[in-house]
Amino acid sequence: MNMRLNILTFAALLVFAASNNQSYAANPHIIPEPGYIDMSDDGLFELDKKTPIVVSNDLWNPAAIFAEEAMEFLDLKRPLRTTKRAKGGIRLRIDRFVPEEGYEMTITPEEVVIIGGSEAGVFYGLQTLRQLVAANNGKVPCGYIADEPTFAYRGAHLDVARHFFTVEEVKEYIDILAAHKLNRLHWHLTDDQGWRIEIKRYPELTEKGSMRKETLVGHGLKPEKWDGTPYGGYYTQEQIREVVDYAAKRYITVIPEIEMPGHAQAALHALPWLGCNEQIVDVWTTWGVTPEVMCAGKESTYTFLENVLLEVIELFPSEYIHIGGDECPKERWAECEHCQAMIKAQELNNTEELQGYLVARIEKFLNAHGKKMIGWDEILDGGVTSTATVMSWRGIKGGIKAAERGNDVIMTPMTLCYLNFYQTESREGEGLHIGGHIPFELIYAWDPTEGMSDEAKSHIIGVQCNMWTEYIKDAQTLQHMLLPRLAAMSEVQWATDRRNEQTIRQKMETMRKFYEECGWNCSPYYFDGRK
Ligand code: ACM
Ligand code: ZN
Repeated sequence: MNMRLNILTFAALLVFAASNNQSYAANPHIIPEPGYIDMSDDGLFELDKKTPIVVSNDLWNPAAIFAEEAMEFLDLKRPLRTTKRAKGGIRLRIDRFVPEEGYEMTITPEEVVIIGGSEAGVFYGLQTLRQLVAANNGKVPCGYIADEPTFAYRGAHLDVARHFFTVEEVKEYIDILAAHKLNRLHWHLTDDQGWRIEIKRYPELTEKGSMRKETLVGHGLKPEKWDGTPYGGYYTQEQIREVVDYAAKRYITVIPEIEMPGHAQAALHALPWLGCNEQIVDVWTTWGVTPEVMCAGKESTYTFLENVLLEVIELFPSEYIHIGGDECPKERWAECEHCQAMIKAQELNNTEELQGYLVARIEKFLNAHGKKMIGWDEILDGGVTSTATVMSWRGIKGGIKAAERGNDVIMTPMTLCYLNFYQTESREGEGLHIGGHIPFELIYAWDPTEGMSDEAKSHIIGVQCNMWTEYIKDAQTLQHMLLPRLAAMSEVQWATDRRNEQTIRQKMETMRKFYEECGWNCSPYYFDGRK
């Protein structure tokens, strides 16, 4: 072997070694992955208690939030100073040439300049900076990052009906979503097992419908057992406003879900005239799908739904309102004179179409009040209008069908997006959960628009993970189910084409430390190599 070849081989080996073991400074671990990173500049920007945040374009809100967050990470006694004028520091501004939710960040030893396409874009830039600061104890490697999301709708859902979470717990959930650059919280506020939102016109909904006598123990294997302990909770309208405002400050829109016409047994307990046969039923103490649903034949049901929605519309600035629409058995309707009369009067063919009638009527009402409707994919079964947005949960087929018809779609298939499912195959040490199996890797590898035509793809507005809480009884367990899988979800939502199997593990080790610093309860399985 001649010398020249030897040197070349040696050089190639060096390059190989460097690329396999890239220093953090050259390749910082940011989740979700930014669009473009060039950390080739030398030097560090050091963040300390004297660093000012310099604000233009009224960016006081993202500045104030970062000022508080930095206090936590740097163990400072006071938040960082926010000001209109100062030298150096972290400088924030908006430029409409940057994509809507995107940002550009330039880090030099003297200053960090973050230019967002909007307030939200600046906020996301600061969230990236927060990860850099946390990983390096305030010393940030110099360079340039440009970033923007893949999907406009990046959601996470939270069921507070099966188990209730306090305002403070919901706020912490929102903090976690914001750190992963999500922008929608789908708040599942009503179901068979509890009505959790105060409605002034119908105080019975929370007075009676927010409390169940007891709760099923375990998976309800025969003989079934109940725990004998009353369980309940609800949010006042003032508390709802507080949560909506807290989320908005973190650029998260809260989308309320009011379930109809099924998953409504708590409402039927409070107001028995909502049902077909007006029998008294309990707030349900069992999980699953109950035959007790709202009557779709009586005008009084529509009046009720419209009155409830009027208050909901007042509380939630969201352009979308979710009306549920899933899992509505039709056996009561089949025997109900009102439902049968409505089928006849509206010249419908069957009870499936009666649900289609109810959903279309409610959508019209929402549209007339300036809102758009979202429903679970069952709303396709009764014939849906072209303007409804469909949440595809029974796999991806419903979503593809809806997108091909021209409806907007949010992908949230159960087998990939239900974070209440087990995280490991063996389930060892996980505690009791509803079932299923969704390890981190499965979410991370998922392509939500795979195999779709370009036309259908253009209707996939986003992706969402769901958190059903039958077996999630407290905030610790909630976070254990959410983390670290939300990191994989955020990579799908924000950085679909930038995922990299080679680097994700290293990035997640850094993210795990970030979770620890935030005091969030992250599950260990992914890090232990268990799936
Ligand atoms: C659902 O999981 N029933 C939407
Ligand atoms: Zn009926």
